[in-house]
Amino acid sequence: MMTTAVKEVSGRPAEPPEEPTFEELAKRVDDAVAAVADLDPSARAVAEEMKHAIEAIHRAGLITIVRRLRADDATRSALFELVDDPVVHLLLSLHEIVRPDPTTHANRVLQSVRPQLQGHGGDVTLVRVEDGTAYVRLQGACNGCSMSSVTLRNLVETALVEGVPSITAVHVLANEPEPTLIPTDSLFPARRRVEEGWAKAGPVTDVPDGGIATFELRTGSGRDVSVIVVKLDQRLTAYVNECAHEALPLDNAVVDMDNGTLTCPWHGFCYDATSGECLTAPAAQLEQLPLRTDNGQIWIRVGP
Ligand code: FES
Repeated sequence: MMTTAVKEVSGRPAEPPEEPTFEELAKRVDDAVAAVADLDPSARAVAEEMKHAIEAIHRAGLITIVRRLRADDATRSALFELVDDPVVHLLLSLHEIVRPDPTTHANRVLQSVRPQLQGHGGDVTLVRVEDGTAYVRLQGACNGCSMSSVTLRNLVETALVEGVPSITAVHVLANEPEPTLIPTDSLFPARRRVEEGWAKAGPVTDVPDGGIATFELRTGSGRDVSVIVVKLDQRLTAYVNECAHEALPLDNAVVDMDNGTLTCPWHGFCYDATSGECLTAPAAQLEQLPLRTDNGQIWIRVGP
C-alpha cells in the first residue's frame, strides 16, 4: 500500500507547514549571535568555530552551484533571476560570492515608490550610496514643509532603509541649479572644484578614441577611487572601475566601437559604453560619474 508524506485530515491532505519568513529566520540568527556573545570565552570560541566550519561548507556548495549554473547558456539566465531574489542575493553576498550592489537595489526600491510620489506631483533621484547612506534629491511635491511633503519624504526614507539591507540612513541633498551654457571656467576655479568633490584626472589626450584610461583619484575626504574613462566617438564617459557583476576592475575591458559596447574581461558582461547599462544582465549598471573637461584636462566628480 502506498503511503503519503503529508498527513490527511478528514480525507483532505493537510497543508504543508508554512516556511518561516525571512524576518523570522534573521531574528533566529540574531538571537543565536546574541546568546553566543554571552558565553564565556572558551565556549564562545567553540561556537564561533562551529559557525565558521558550517559556513565554509555552505560557501563551497554555493560556489559549485553558481559555477555550474553560470557555465551553461540554458541555466545562466535562471541564475541571474535567482541572484535578483533579495534573499538569495543576501545569502550569496554573505558568502562573498556576489558583491552586494546597493545602488542597483536602491534604484529598484525607489522605482517601486515612484508611482506614489509622481501621483502626488513629486519624484526622487538617487545620487549615490556611500558608507550605508543613500544620498537622494527630491523633486516637486516631495520638497517643502507641508504634511504631504513630509509623508512623501518618509515614504522614500522608509523604502530605502527597509528595502535595502546595506542602507541605514538617507540624506536628502539640496537641489542643484539647472545647468546653463555659461562657460564653467569663469564660474568654478579649479581649486573650488576640488573642494566640491571634483578631481583632476589628466589630459584628454590620455584616453585614445575607442579606448579606456584608468585614473586613481582621491575624494575631498581622502577616499581613493579608481575610475575608468571611456572615449567613444570623441565622447568621454567616466565610471567607477568596478564591473557590476563581481566588482572586478575594468581596466582591460574591450571597447567595440561599432556596437558602442564595453565588455568586461573577467566573465564577459557587456555594457553600453556611453550609458553603463548592462546588456548581459538588465538589472545591472556601471556607476557613472560626472565628467567635464577644461583646457584639455579631464575633471571627474568623485565625491566630497
Ligand atoms: S566581473 Fe564578472 S563579468 Fe565583470
